[in-house]
Amino acid sequence: MSSHLSVAGLYRRARESGIPLVGGHRGNPAEHPENTLASFRSAIELGVDMIECDVHLSADRELVVLHDHTLDRTTDGTGLVGQRTLAELRRLDAGGGERLPVLAEVCELARDRVGLAVELKQIPIPYPGMEEKLIACLVALDMLDQTCVISFDHRSVCRLKELEPRLSVGILEGARPIDPAALMRGAGADIYCPHYGAMDRDLVDEIHAVGGMVGVWTVDDATAVAWCRACGPDSVFTNRPREIVPAFRD
Ligand code: G3P
Ligand code: CA
Repeated sequence: MSSHLSVAGLYRRARESGIPLVGGHRGNPAEHPENTLASFRSAIELGVDMIECDVHLSADRELVVLHDHTLDRTTDGTGLVGQRTLAELRRLDAGGGERLPVLAEVCELARDRVGLAVELKQIPIPYPGMEEKLIACLVALDMLDQTCVISFDHRSVCRLKELEPRLSVGILEGARPIDPAALMRGAGADIYCPHYGAMDRDLVDEIHAVGGMVGVWTVDDATAVAWCRACGPDSVFTNRPREIVPAFRD
């Protein structure tokens, strides 16, 4: 397993330096169609430390990258992603002539350049067996250590950790729970991933106290940057890497 750009190592360095990792959320969607190779490529060129993508399963059980459970918003197709084969999905225009990527293509783009955060879209429509599929893909590509996997479905996060304890996993959370560390530990997670507006300094301290990392989304303006500076998360994911990468490096 390669290790020079492990996600765990990136987070460790960020924690030690006090400078958060900056991730391209869906790549660089401010300037390119979200979750496309053009978007991810652009984010990498702008100097992000990580890229984030969203993953679904096609009808023929291939890992395909897009955000919504339906095709209507981001492609010229309609209906549910999970009811189309990969061949059908690949014929769609995901914006500007871009095609929907498969996860393996995003892995190859990220490999040895940036860390990869993969969000499993398991709710509201579940894809049984997607966790096994994802781990098999990461192992086959030797990308286990360069990837972290996150989800709003904490059962899915738990399952991933049980299946592959070496994988870094994170829980997504929109609210401010009473005990975020217990929530993270309950899911077997390494990273706690709230919306930045659901983060406070105490929350970051509580997660750090149990050895966890904090990764927030979607930090897109000066107010969000200021709040992150005040609270000290270990990573920030943004839709606007051109503005936000330099904001954390000055
Ligand atoms: O990085 C986490 C964030 O992507 C979660 O929300 O809806 O943008 O996938 P969403
Ligand atoms: Ca996401």
